[in-house]
Amino acid sequence: ADVEGQAAFDRIIEQDSRIEPRDWMPEKYRKSLTRQISQHAHSEIIGMQPEGNWITRAPSLKRKAILMAKVQDEAGHGLYLYSAAETLGTTRDEMMQQLIDGKARYSSIFNYPARSWADMGAIGWLVDGAAICNQVPLCRASYGPYGRAMVRICKEESFHQRQGFEILLELSQGTPAQKQMAQDAVNRFYAPALMMFGPPDGDSPNSVQSMQWNIKRFSNDELRQRFVDMIVPQAEVLGLTLPDPDLVWNEERGHYDFGELDWDEFKEVLAGRGPCNTQRLERRRAAHEDGAWVREAARAYAARTAGRQST
Ligand code: ACO
Repeated sequence: ADVEGQAAFDRIIEQDSRIEPRDWMPEKYRKSLTRQISQHAHSEIIGMQPEGNWITRAPSLKRKAILMAKVQDEAGHGLYLYSAAETLGTTRDEMMQQLIDGKARYSSIFNYPARSWADMGAIGWLVDGAAICNQVPLCRASYGPYGRAMVRICKEESFHQRQGFEILLELSQGTPAQKQMAQDAVNRFYAPALMMFGPPDGDSPNSVQSMQWNIKRFSNDELRQRFVDMIVPQAEVLGLTLPDPDLVWNEERGHYDFGELDWDEFKEVLAGRGPCNTQRLERRRAAHEDGAWVREAARAYAARTAGRQST
């Protein structure tokens, strides 16, 4: 059956069609997808923290409403992604436990602090912008439930990016102090946003296989380049600069050249030693414990209604 299953799987991949939950799939495909989708789900959930932190301090009712909607969207993204990952056979409880035990990865970017209101702009523009660049190709991922979840997520992410851009535009056209605050936020988030795309291709152990399986469509460096090319003209519109002295248009390549990133910093953050790793996990753990009564009530309610139906 495995030989037949493998042949059918190979055919689907070759035709660039979709693998669905009940189809036979190689164990390694299942494992790698569970890894990527669960990490992605965790990123959405942990990613609520830096922005959630600013909801009470948003400068107006309008900004507060927008920020609340955005943070709720991230929760929704986490939930679709956990559901997509569950179709591969790992339960959401198991995935959540791995996160809480500090055994699961989530995006490096969410281990940086959000220090000022302008950071809400920089996160929307740069972090959600990088997320879109990385995720639009994932709408075509070979695993059906993942690709379909990405379609809606990308639509919501583009609203997030625009709201961030608009926060920065308003600050940048405001008082000199406001403009400085916007510039400072961009200075701090630029390099970490570029690191979201993952290590350079030569140090990316999963890329080649993921591309053969049509999960990833472009390499980490290709997407990082695409993102830099996209944000340079946007930074000009904002009247802000990007903090990289090596950033320059390369006529021959038809792309912007940019400086080497600090990969030691990236490794430190992945090893759990970024500026906010401990705080983010503690907060997640506390939220999980605080929610215990909700899970318990839901279970009791489900048991009671199940009992009622059977009588
Ligand atoms: N932060 C944390 N870990 C990372 C990051 C990052 N920015 N980039 C790579 N890694 C990890 C990988 O998960 C992998 O770890 P593992 O093997 O222990 O699982 C390791 O570093 C090596 O990297 P790659 O071989 O390049 O891994 P991969 O092929 O999975 O590529 C990438 C990484 C690009 C992040 C990919 O998994 C992906 O596209 N994921 C979906 C998008 C996503 O998760 N976005 C989250 C942030 S956006 C948001 O939530 C708003």
